[in-house]
Amino acid sequence: MQSPAPLPPLKKLADYQPPDWLVPEIALDFDLDPVRTLVRATLKIERNGAHRRPLCLDGEELEMLEMKIDGVSQPLPNSAADGLELAIGPDAATVETLVAIRPAANSRLMGLYASGGNLCTQCEAEGFRRITFFPDRPDVLSRYHVRMEADAQRFPVLLANGNPGAAGSLPDGRHFAEWDDPFPKPSYLFALVAGNLAALRDAFTTRSGRHVALAIWVAAADVPRCAHAMESLKASMAWDEEVYGREYDLDQFNIVAVHDFNFGAMENKGLNIFNAKYVLADPDTATDWDFDAIAGIVAHEYFHNWSGNRVTCRDWFQLSLKEGFTVFRDQQFSASRGSPAVKRIEAVRQLRAAQFPEDAGPLAHPVRPDSYMEISNFYTATVYDKGAELIRMMARLLGPEKFRRATDRYFDANDGRAATVEDFLAAMQSEGLDSARFKHWYEQPGTPQVEVSASHDARAKTVRLSLRQSNPKAAEGAPPLPIPFNFAAFARDGRKLSETRDLLLTAPETDLLLEGLDEPPILSLNRGFAAPIVARPAPARAELMLLAAHEDDEFARYEAIQQLMLSALVESVHDGKLCGAEDVAQALSALLDGWEADPAFVAETLLIPSEPLVGDQMQSVDPAAIHAAREALRGAILDALGPRLWEIWRATGTDGADLSARAKGLRRLKGITLSLLLARDGAEAAAAALAQYAQADCMTDRMSALTALSHSMRPERDTALAAFRERYAALPEVFDKWFLAQAASTRADTLGQVQALAADRDFDPRNPNRLRALVLGFAGNQPRFHDAGGQGYAFLGRQVLDADRINPQSAARLIQPLTRWRRFAAPWGVQMQETLQRVADTPGISRDLTEVVTTGLK
Ligand code: TRP
Ligand code: ZN
Repeated sequence: MQSPAPLPPLKKLADYQPPDWLVPEIALDFDLDPVRTLVRATLKIERNGAHRRPLCLDGEELEMLEMKIDGVSQPLPNSAADGLELAIGPDAATVETLVAIRPAANSRLMGLYASGGNLCTQCEAEGFRRITFFPDRPDVLSRYHVRMEADAQRFPVLLANGNPGAAGSLPDGRHFAEWDDPFPKPSYLFALVAGNLAALRDAFTTRSGRHVALAIWVAAADVPRCAHAMESLKASMAWDEEVYGREYDLDQFNIVAVHDFNFGAMENKGLNIFNAKYVLADPDTATDWDFDAIAGIVAHEYFHNWSGNRVTCRDWFQLSLKEGFTVFRDQQFSASRGSPAVKRIEAVRQLRAAQFPEDAGPLAHPVRPDSYMEISNFYTATVYDKGAELIRMMARLLGPEKFRRATDRYFDANDGRAATVEDFLAAMQSEGLDSARFKHWYEQPGTPQVEVSASHDARAKTVRLSLRQSNPKAAEGAPPLPIPFNFAAFARDGRKLSETRDLLLTAPETDLLLEGLDEPPILSLNRGFAAPIVARPAPARAELMLLAAHEDDEFARYEAIQQLMLSALVESVHDGKLCGAEDVAQALSALLDGWEADPAFVAETLLIPSEPLVGDQMQSVDPAAIHAAREALRGAILDALGPRLWEIWRATGTDGADLSARAKGLRRLKGITLSLLLARDGAEAAAAALAQYAQADCMTDRMSALTALSHSMRPERDTALAAFRERYAALPEVFDKWFLAQAASTRADTLGQVQALAADRDFDPRNPNRLRALVLGFAGNQPRFHDAGGQGYAFLGRQVLDADRINPQSAARLIQPLTRWRRFAAPWGVQMQETLQRVADTPGISRDLTEVVTTGLK
């Protein structure tokens, strides 16, 4: 038997060494061509410290053509497959290389690649080594001078980081442009774009008077759909000045939208490159969700100019230093532009949907990981979203004034440096945070639990509370975490008896005494979700009913109603029959009474917990039973509240061009009531959904109708799908929604339809958005993906292996749903594991995929 290939080595945080050589300056000269681009790089290098070690340059898929050291040509090495090691005599030297690269053949979308006829780059985390030989690590900061040359007709626009310099025409229909970036930066922030692009232009004047030219570059036909992104950019610039005192620092800020992109967007200095999905919007093509996501991501990338670019990361273990902080900043920005309670509900739902499961499974890792095989696999919900929760806790513990002073100190002390989590904590410490204690949050994987037990003493009228923290994923003997934890106590008649503010649990067990209590109170735990934890026990249904009616904190009221539905669903699964439906209907009925006052809140609270979330509450997941329970509850809600739901659905009409928070809330509520109206797939409801589809004056209403109909067995479904294809097939980011709607359908025939869609003329696995819409859309469809027989898993396994040959980052992401195999009952779990094993045993799979499958099998 052939022995398996050795695993790629792990990189460890503990092994960090400062760079042996610095590169204070680099000149890059590009002769751009999609088939074969020439890159001349001239590096000024300096020895860092007293040592005799060689200069190590990373390089990947580079065709080496020339090399000079201090002007002297060097013999070319036999192989430079993953880099170069050069012996250098003097303490400073100039190293020049000329390489050829192949953008059109670059399907990984890392380095320089072609997308829709244009050329663009993606260098984070380790893509720059696919452009030229360089110490491709974030603690090597250089000043970049860039010169590009290209065909003037195919590539009339030439952009790079920084400020523009000379430009002009050349013989043979070619032209050139130079760009200079005055701010030293790590290679992962390098970018260039060459293309046939038009711009939406605007301007912003910073509060110290710098005039900044703003431009969003897209195909000419898409310029009208850039207005919302531009408005979001200007709002972000003003917000960062006002809230964090951070100004923009170059004369230009450019955003380019591309159709093929591995992620949401990228914060390259002065030249952000975006997945077009997060730029293009108008009411006809983008939902309210899309509008909000665009504003959030535009803000996120802009905010990186300080949290990431001016202050960057020492190494990739520190990734959350920029990502967690920047997510927190974009969440604050979004909250300031809508309802903070609703934004918080959305963020917590996202955390529970993605981060909690990650933290509970084999891919769990600390917010600052200790080791990795492939860094691309660590752009995770834990690093981003749990990382943001850690910053939120620090901001809360310090309060707004001290937190602002601490962030000022962090930015000022680390400007132009590659920093660590310790540097951030030191700034927080200077305003009084106990950072040694807080640091443990960065070191432990797993979602901490706080278990509350209460004992009432009727004679003394006291309640003794004991709050015990634990974390099943933390190492033996791991220190306790500082957990901000608040609760309120309610009497049986609904009166609030007491509430805590700024309680901080620092010990494994904290005891509290509540006084003046005639009866045991009802406790509302983890109010405001101050920490990313699970509080136990969940209150009994009768208590949740009381909290649903009497909680005066919006978030806590949302939680009570959601928990009520969740507990009804869990009980229904256990008992094999519908339980708790009357309680749910009663609570929702009371909730619906307030729909006109706050439609957005009512909509979020009305949403029935997802099937994966129900599974997360169970020892062992039975997807079929969960689906049956949720469908039964949906039906019971419709039976009980049908007339109310119809009434609300009819009354929630809006002007589709109205993007106010109220109009968005009304549309959200309209969509959620429509989906409930279709619970029993009635003829009247299907007709109403098709009417909504046909008459919609905006994508939000059109899409909520299409989504609701996607599960239906009625002919209206196909009518709506055909109309959507007809109208939007030419707009790729919009047409993705059509693939997703079918992939996420709970219809019994979905697997067959998904297989057919994978062979559709409009399905292209090279496009990450399309691939994710279909394949991840399907893998997130719990009842259908886990269809008995394992056919869903087999489909995913094949897609993963196909994708891996094109784009390993995509493949490594697609496989992740299978890594949760331990959570699933027989036969599902075993079949998932077998599929994972089959992928792991396939010779020649990428390092990205190898890491996920080997970790996932553990
Ligand atoms: N830094 C980007 C962000 O704002 C993430 C990112 C963009 C990325 N493109 C990538 C990460 C490609 C890995 C690979 O969050
Ligand atoms: Zn980011």
